[in-house]
Formats: sequence, C-alpha cells, structure tokens
Amino acid sequence: MSAPSLPVVREPAELRAQVRAWKARGERVGLVPTMGALHEGHLSLVRLAKAQADRVVASVFVNPTQFAAGEDFEAYPRDEARDAALLASAGCDLLYGPGPAQMYPDGFSTTVSVSGVSEPLEGAFRPTHFAGVATVVAKLLIQAEPDVAVFGEKDFQQLQVIRRLVRDLDLPVAIVGAPTIRTQDGLARSSRNAYLSEAERTTAGKLNVILAAAAEALRGGADVASAEVDALKALAEAGFGKVDYFETRDPDDLKRLGPGPLTGPARVLVAAWLGKTRLIDNIAV
Ligand code: PAJ
Repeated sequence: MSAPSLPVVREPAELRAQVRAWKARGERVGLVPTMGALHEGHLSLVRLAKAQADRVVASVFVNPTQFAAGEDFEAYPRDEARDAALLASAGCDLLYGPGPAQMYPDGFSTTVSVSGVSEPLEGAFRPTHFAGVATVVAKLLIQAEPDVAVFGEKDFQQLQVIRRLVRDLDLPVAIVGAPTIRTQDGLARSSRNAYLSEAERTTAGKLNVILAAAAEALRGGADVASAEVDALKALAEAGFGKVDYFETRDPDDLKRLGPGPLTGPARVLVAAWLGKTRLIDNIAV
C-alpha cells in the first residue's frame, strides 16, 4: 500500500480559498499549528481536531521569530515529506506549508505581544519567545479562519498565552487544549528529545516522576514551598543540570501560588537542562 498523499498549499490566499470552500458546504474546519518534526504528540492533536471538525488543516512552519539568537532555529529538524505522510495517516486533509517570505514579507513590522501570562516561566528565560509565538499564531488563525484550533498542554504556558490572545483580539475560534502524549517511561514526547544522549535519555524519564511526586504531595496538603524544594533536590540527585524553574502556579493566569498549602487547582511547571538540551513539562494538581 502506498502512503496516502496530502495536498499542500503555500500561499495564505490558497489556504483561505480552500477553507472557505469547505465552510460553504457546511463543513467545520480545525487547525493544528506545528513546526514539523512530527511525532505522536502532534498526531494526537490532529486526531482530536478531526473528532471536532470535518476538515483538518495542519500548518508546518519553523517560525524564526520565536527562536532567540543561539537557540536551535537552524538545527531544528525539517522533513516535509515525512511530516506529510504522518499527517495524512492521522486524517489530516491539508498541509499548509508557507515559507518565511509568505509569513514575513519584506517590510513586515507588526508584533502581537501578550503581557501578563507571557511574562513568567518561559517568558523570563526566553524574553522574545512568546511575542514570536503570539504573532505567528494570530497570523495562522487569521489566514485559516478555523472554527477550532488545537494546542498541546505539553506547552502549557503557550496554550494559556494563546487563549488570552484569542479572547483579547475577539478571534472567532474555539481553542482546545490536548493532553500530553508520553513515551513508556513518561517522558513527554518532543522533537528536541532527539538531542539527548542515551544516558541523558534515561535521566529524562525521571522528570515526569518528580513532577508527579510533587503533585501528589501538594494534593496531600504539603506546603508549596517545601514541595518545590524537595523536587529541586530530587532533580539534582537524578542528574539534571540547571533548573530554570520548578514552580506551582494558578492554572489560568499563571500567577505564583504558595508558599503554604494549595486552596484550589494548580499547575506545576518545570524547565530543566540535561547537558545541552532544555526539557519542559508540567502537571495538573
Ligand atoms: P511544536 O513544538 O511543533 O508543537 C506543535 C503543537 O504540538 C503544540 O500545540 C504543542 O503543544 C503540541 N505538542 C508537542 N508535543 C506534544 C506532546 N508530547 N503531546 C501533546 N501535544 C504536543 O508549539 C509549537 O510548535 C509552536 O510554538 C507553534 C504553536 C506551532 C507556533 O509556531
């Protein structure tokens, strides 16, 4: 059996014409934005979108504006033929693969920046990142005009930034968050896991275990401050390098909680280094 083929468009006008044609027939359209290098996590988003819409568009665009100098923009894995085959197998109907010239034509001068929820955590360590994400996601939502767009809880702060963006700009789209897909040892799937050595890969599997232990302690009434200190100790013992943050926050506005016990729902978020690779993960409490 040959791999199913997937139509590809590169121009915003072609994308919009196809989406409008579907909508004119009464079909609901879902969008799944990605940067390619697809894995099961991305494909689960496509399947979820397909369950909520008649047609699913996946965008594949390695967005230069969300990478800072010295990050992995050039090294980021790119293989469109492989991505297209995987998307088709997951039920995707159209691949939108614009180039930088389509997304950022000469003279491009507009930035969408979401304050508040963008500022702590990832925002503190990657100060230009979320403006790049918000700008490209706003463009994708305006270009595609989807009824629903799906984003992973793997990037929990990104999901909350996008929810805020859509509310603030009255974009007519429903944002759906999708659960994190993990490998057998619980490591969240990520295109960047490919950068890990074999030894680092073993250690990486402990990140979710330490998060789960903290969530369990917090559910049992532990102080936020002591749960966080215990987790930092456990990360060091497991062999992680620098921990950018391990913090317990309000799940909606991402304001910091604690230092005492929790009085309502929370999200624990972590970013930690293993060698040259930075891993992020999070868990609901
Ligand atoms: P990318 O890292 O390619 O991720 C695309 C989508 O897949 C995001 O919504 C992300 O949260 C989700 N995802 C990644 N790993 C996942 C996993 N293990 N389980 C479930 N979902 C997972 O995030 C981006 O691209 C970009 O910032 C983008 C939104 C496309 C804007 O450029």
